[in-house]
Amino acid sequence: MIAKLLGLSHVDQSEFLTWSADLATFIGAGFPDEDQTQRALRSIVEMGRYFESVIRDRRYSEGEGLLGVLVNAQQSGQIKEGPELLAQCAMLLFAGHETTRHLLGTAVYWLLRHRRTWEALKSDHSLLKSAARELLRWDSPVQYTGRRANCDFSLYGMQIRRGDLVLPLIGAANRDPERYEDPDELRLDRQVGMPLSFGSGPHVCIGATLTLMEVEATIAALLRRWPDLQIAEEQDDWIASPLYRGFVSLPLWPKGIVQRPVARAAGCVSDSDLDCGLVY
Ligand code: HEM
Repeated sequence: MIAKLLGLSHVDQSEFLTWSADLATFIGAGFPDEDQTQRALRSIVEMGRYFESVIRDRRYSEGEGLLGVLVNAQQSGQIKEGPELLAQCAMLLFAGHETTRHLLGTAVYWLLRHRRTWEALKSDHSLLKSAARELLRWDSPVQYTGRRANCDFSLYGMQIRRGDLVLPLIGAANRDPERYEDPDELRLDRQVGMPLSFGSGPHVCIGATLTLMEVEATIAALLRRWPDLQIAEEQDDWIASPLYRGFVSLPLWPKGIVQRPVARAAGCVSDSDLDCGLVY
């Protein structure tokens, strides 16, 4: 989705997933080791080269798409010459994908684990909007952010000095009992506005609206397409990161699978169903 919005005509997904995973591992490591550092460095350089060649060869949609807007902004002097444009592109591609991908996985997982919520959504799609926010609160894909203190202050009896690194824990704030009634309960109809998962202040996430649209659209499509969806097997396949929450993989099982030759012979499915994997 983010590649499409950028207006990229072609992204090699396997390459892109490797870059993204290398960067996420490095950023989330706290104290990255030599190997993690080298991999992240290689990936960011490759990402920069990729965007350099895309811009040079004009392999992006010029009429619409964010990349065209950014290139025009550089040509008209709104973005400085030099690496800033490439940095923006890399940031958008990475930030626009890694966290959203994780949220889609955890959102579906928790809905299926709390089956009553999945069933509730099935019968009432109007809950989708508040459900997306609640799932974002319940299991934030980004668990903390970082800031340097710009003055001395004390917080809950703790002294923080100017220049100290502070890591506000988003995941904990999203379960604050002073803010949320029964914070450890997943309530799809909670009406408390936006949780802190997108950060706050001058660096608040610019992709919040897009993310919520993606989550709502994905869950709606799954409910429509596979109303009896199930988790195929409980496996502990969470990514190993203190910063990000998400799955390496999440096998799901659309109940009532029909075998491809049987379905075809019976003429009970359309070609598009066969193509998009409804029938195996
Ligand atoms: C589940 C999805 C997402 C989550 C949880 C998330 C979370 C965050 C967080 C926590 C920050 C830092 C805020 C801070 O430190 O105060 C951030 C910044 C940012 N996000 Fe997202 N994000 C998501 C999706 C997206 C998408 C889809 C895009 C792109 C379209 C995006 C682009 C950015 C950018 C460019 C920044 C940096 C903003 C700045 O520094 O001014 N994010 N995001």
